[in-house]
Amino acid sequence: MTARIDEIAPDLYRICLYVPAFDLQFNHFLVRDDEPLLFHTGMRGMFPAMREAVATLIDPASLRWISWSHFEVDECGALNEWLAVAPNATPVCGEVGAMVNIGDFSNRPPRALKPNEILGTGRHRFRFVPTPHLPHGWDAGVLFEERSGVLLCSDLFHQLGEVEPVTSADVLGRWDAAVAAYQAHPVLMDYLPLTPGTRRRLNELADLQPKVLAAMHGSAFVGDGGAALRAAADMLQFRLGAAPVDAQHVA
Ligand SMILES: [Fe+2]
Ligand SMILES: [Fe+2]
Repeated sequence: MTARIDEIAPDLYRICLYVPAFDLQFNHFLVRDDEPLLFHTGMRGMFPAMREAVATLIDPASLRWISWSHFEVDECGALNEWLAVAPNATPVCGEVGAMVNIGDFSNRPPRALKPNEILGTGRHRFRFVPTPHLPHGWDAGVLFEERSGVLLCSDLFHQLGEVEPVTSADVLGRWDAAVAAYQAHPVLMDYLPLTPGTRRRLNELADLQPKVLAAMHGSAFVGDGGAALRAAADMLQFRLGAAPVDAQHVA
């Protein structure tokens, strides 16, 4: 398994591992800065390939921060493997994740971010935005890099296939196709929930006016990220929304 590495914003690298069995890319983001940050650890089975890839950019032992969106193996499964090779690294996630999962799972105590707290790495400033159940998981959140406008958006804008590292094409159309495919799959269906907070949280992310949507699966989107996020609420409502209640059937 060999990683492809692309710089998608200044000193922000997309490290992509494509898994043919799933026809899916798994992207991990490394920020090369005074205090290097890795967003998405990858799965444990990906760790050797990931360590090798990161080592072409920085000394893995110099990692300072390790973060992710929500507790799932592609997001943070290899956290302890990274902590073993990076003695000064600290896991960093939202308060829910720290309290519910990471305080126990991690071999080193996490830093828990409050809503809108800034994680500074030197030249970069990452705003933490909690997004419970978006894309999924009670503990979900995203990081927004305020200087370059990059939103590390996890499973939002999930795209299938071996696609280009960066696109300005219709990324929402690709996400829609992925959601439709998963909804039709006997095991993968119900990957994403639709909740009363889904649209509001997407709109809150849109208000950040991201210029780059750094998706975990698929291409990073460069363009009007706010418009894509606002439109995404309609897509999810259409794909996941329950049929309206027939008034005749209400007692
Ligand atoms: Fe996920
Ligand atoms: Fe994912």
